[in-house]
Amino acid sequence: MPLRYRLLLPKPESKQPRLTVLPHHEPHRLPMTQITSQSSDQDPEPGSGVDDSRVPRIGPIQLAPPVILAPMAGVTDAPFRVLCAEFGGGLFVNQMVTARALLEGHRASWALARFHPSEKVRSLQLYSTDPVTLGGAVRRLVSEGLVDHIDLNFGCPAPKVTRNGGGAALPYKRRLLAQVIKAAVSAADGESNGAVPVTVKFRLGIDDDHLTFMDTARTAEAEGVAAVALHARTALQHYAPPAHWDRITELKSAITSIPVFGNGDIFTAGDALAMVNQTGCDGVVIGRGCLGRPWLFRDLDAAFSGSPIPEVPLLGEVVATIRRHLELIIEWDGDDSRLSHFRKHLAWYLKGYAVGPEIRRRAAQTSTLAEIEAVLDDLDPTLEAPDGVERIHRSHSSAQRRVALPEGWLDDPLAIPALPRGAEALVSGG
Ligand SMILES: Cc1cc2nc3c(=O)[nH]c(=O)nc-3n(C[C@H](O)[C@H](O)[C@H](O)COP(=O)(O)O)c2cc1C
Repeated sequence: MPLRYRLLLPKPESKQPRLTVLPHHEPHRLPMTQITSQSSDQDPEPGSGVDDSRVPRIGPIQLAPPVILAPMAGVTDAPFRVLCAEFGGGLFVNQMVTARALLEGHRASWALARFHPSEKVRSLQLYSTDPVTLGGAVRRLVSEGLVDHIDLNFGCPAPKVTRNGGGAALPYKRRLLAQVIKAAVSAADGESNGAVPVTVKFRLGIDDDHLTFMDTARTAEAEGVAAVALHARTALQHYAPPAHWDRITELKSAITSIPVFGNGDIFTAGDALAMVNQTGCDGVVIGRGCLGRPWLFRDLDAAFSGSPIPEVPLLGEVVATIRRHLELIIEWDGDDSRLSHFRKHLAWYLKGYAVGPEIRRRAAQTSTLAEIEAVLDDLDPTLEAPDGVERIHRSHSSAQRRVALPEGWLDDPLAIPALPRGAEALVSGG
């Protein structure tokens, strides 16, 4: 009988510790996520406080709590990953980079593929449609000791990607998919002797008439992938609700030799426990739920260890987190010259709080530290978040969209297509 997780909510009268932002000098922590020396027959460290039988392993990586920060282009950069990891444990995946860009020495892609010194598990998502290119990039990353984990993107629904047979389109071509996965696994294994696991992340399929998730997972399992993650939507759905958690249940029943992670519509720690309890999946992948809410990882820590979930932070506590986020960005960039991209984070942090339209307008126009600080100084630290703040839309929520595919793509799932060179062009994920 599988164990079930139970959600403990804060009692209204209880004095739960509120959000604490770590003092700046405190060492970053990845509390329980650790890499063992290699093989999967070692036990988690005694006293880790988690039920050992439930700790999923991605190759040598033990994941307690069983939580993964989803790769998100333009979001999961080093400062954001470190910020999330300061709140709780998990595996924090870098943004997607294309294998070809790495092999061709594209500077921006190599810059994206860098990790903060505090990141003990360096996890990178790669995109490719070509086994040779992907194998070459993985070989280089692993032989140079630059990563501890590689994830492969087979879920991107962006037309410029699927039109070229990449991302969410690729799993339809079963044999090409197997070749691509095999190339990554054998390169990683060959260079690291199994120490750098490869995982795959994919969607349900192209649309309801072309579901591929089961075949994709079986191929991945057969080719030696260490875990699979299912974003339980079709490409047609883009980000439209709902994520079909029942499909995660199906997948978990079928895939027995490697962990199955569920992804889609987890906005609270309660949602995460519900997904694990309902589907039996081994862990969860968190995307939009942590945008402007990195303390979700603290809540997840609490939920998976059976502790009460901390209260939703007051605006003053959110401001402290924003300041920490800024500090990490400035430290990472070496200066404060690139802060206009912080606007989106600022908007996400303020979602739901009754700050008024004037503050939101000013926040949306900030591009310097001084401008951001001026907005923060004008916020009322005692403001409470409204009920349901977690589910307010952040980032992608797009509705159904026709999936652009190469001509004749759906004719023969076993044909190995000759993909245009554009298929390996620089893309950013989704
Ligand atoms: C801004 C943004 C960027 C994304 N970029 C990627 C990506 O590069 N690779 C990928 O596999 N998924 C990407 N995704 C999809 C997420 O990883 C995740 O699968 C999706 O958001 C569903 O999870 P959620 O409902 O928890 O948000 C992105 C999602 C968002 C919102």
